[in-house]
Amino acid sequence: RKSASGAQDNLRFAEIPHRLDFTHHVPQGYVAERVLSWGDPLDAFGGDFIPEKLNAREQARRFGYNNDFIAFMPLAENAGPGEGDKHCLSRNSERGLLCVNHEYTQPHLMFSGYSEDSAHRGTRDEHVAIEQQACGHTVVEVEKTGHGWQPIPGSPYNRRLSLTTPMTIVGPAAGDRRLQTGGDPSGTQVSGTVGNCAGGKTPWGTVLIAEEGFGGAFQGDPDNVADETEARNHHAFGISPGNRNWGDYDQRFDITVEPNEPNRFGWMVEYDPYYPQSAPRKLTALGRFEHEGFTLVSKPEQPVVAYGGDDDEHQFVYRFVSHGIYRPGDNQHNRTLLHEGTLYAAQFSEGGSGRWLPLVHGQGPLTRENGFHNQADVLVDARRAAKLLGATPMDRPEDVETNPVNDCTYVMLTKNKQRKPEDVNAANPRARNTAGHVLEIVPPGRSGARDHVSDTFRWNTFLLGGNPNAENPAERGAYGQSQRGTISPHGWFANPDNVAFDQRGNMWIATDGCERFGFHDGLWAMATEGEQRAAPKHFFGCPEGGELCGPEFTPDGNTLFVSVQHPADADNSTFDSPLHRWPDNDPRLPPRPSVLAIRRTDGGTVGS
Ligand code: FEO
Ligand code: CA
Ligand code: CA
Ligand code: CA
Repeated sequence: RKSASGAQDNLRFAEIPHRLDFTHHVPQGYVAERVLSWGDPLDAFGGDFIPEKLNAREQARRFGYNNDFIAFMPLAENAGPGEGDKHCLSRNSERGLLCVNHEYTQPHLMFSGYSEDSAHRGTRDEHVAIEQQACGHTVVEVEKTGHGWQPIPGSPYNRRLSLTTPMTIVGPAAGDRRLQTGGDPSGTQVSGTVGNCAGGKTPWGTVLIAEEGFGGAFQGDPDNVADETEARNHHAFGISPGNRNWGDYDQRFDITVEPNEPNRFGWMVEYDPYYPQSAPRKLTALGRFEHEGFTLVSKPEQPVVAYGGDDDEHQFVYRFVSHGIYRPGDNQHNRTLLHEGTLYAAQFSEGGSGRWLPLVHGQGPLTRENGFHNQADVLVDARRAAKLLGATPMDRPEDVETNPVNDCTYVMLTKNKQRKPEDVNAANPRARNTAGHVLEIVPPGRSGARDHVSDTFRWNTFLLGGNPNAENPAERGAYGQSQRGTISPHGWFANPDNVAFDQRGNMWIATDGCERFGFHDGLWAMATEGEQRAAPKHFFGCPEGGELCGPEFTPDGNTLFVSVQHPADADNSTFDSPLHRWPDNDPRLPPRPSVLAIRRTDGGTVGS
């Protein structure tokens, strides 16, 4: 059905209210079924999860903690390893690989009687070993059955990536002296990944996972690191003596022992879920910072373009343009596209114009005089390079993703309490921005066929998060329909984090921080064009303490997977005395981060 404006008349689900309680909520006519929870076995005879019996070897073959990004990768009947593009092209929406990030661990919610006390050192050693297996990423084969979506324990595709998985470093910074350590003098082999927040997918069947808050895994005082460049670098990522004490148990996380080890984290990682023996690759061409994720725009016979954010106060929005051309069907070639290219940082100017500024050694201020000796220096210190170039400091850029229908790119800016009144700019218009906002980048060209390689763009403020009726104008949200007062009292939200688009071009925003405003985090859906542009409707609510991550549709749009991260995360909530025990509500189990599959009970398209 078309509305008067010509836009598709959609998103007709019955909106759910703002709430704050101990369970999750979907609209009437929908079901949300649990697919995977922390501790679920990947192996056929893995057995039930018994938290008291967990050890590192067990955790290495079970679903990890704090699920975040989700990629659904279809499984074709007649394609094998190395044929990722054929699997993707099959668009199979009933069988596939669920590829899920595990962002970080929370030992006080994972272990009974948890204590940082050195008297518990023996137990702590085992805890750290478990935590290093509980972060990273999981691949699980899943199938849609008569009883909803089911994981398939024992599938040969099931795989865990953790802090001990061997990975290769590729691209311009691979092998550079700043990536060499005692354990790896080559600077090209690294053990594992951490801080895996959001990510992306490629049409050649690989998955991209981000390394975001990696600084928290490292311990030591940067001022005790002799090299000034590295000391400044480590400070910038929040490495401090007060951090987690993993360095006491595993010396590579102590920067006074291995000052270069942090330079091997903070990258995007690409891996092939269809080939479980393959080594993931850290992609240095995409720069080193607190990556939220990178998402692709890939058009046949053109360079691949990827967009991403650096989730920290006053950090930047980035774009990558590959040197090579995307050639559908040539998987061997496509798999190298993210190894070489140009990284850019965004400059948002007054009046809605913008430019992409290239991070290329020797160009502009990126010279030896400013401490950049080669392209590796530019990529390892991408933040400093982007700042020198004059990129616009943003309000914590989270997901940046392109709408497949109108071909515009949307930037989630979650919040920035540090922004002072004198620092506001056109693209970040609110001081002490507690609610966040969303920008729309419009590359040149017509709707649906825009030029993402162009170095200039137009941009708009798509919405401002927060309550449209807030008394303080600086905290007042602004949405498409709110100017006319027709947005529902439950339609507003704050702190946009992850984003997904359905096939009709509707935007689905997952939030991280709404409890501060009195209601649960969750999911809000809205049109990007027409009369209902930027007028959100509330679709999903988390149990208290949880944030929502990873919204991901199956290709047919009939299933929406979501990640509920850190349920029951609240003051004084512990393994032994949790705020609640979602989703099991079993006194033998703690609250468990879980992935849910949301479907319409009549089998129709989610959201229509
Ligand atoms: Fe891990 Fe930027 O959220
Ligand atoms: Ca998170
Ligand atoms: Ca996030
Ligand atoms: Ca966040």
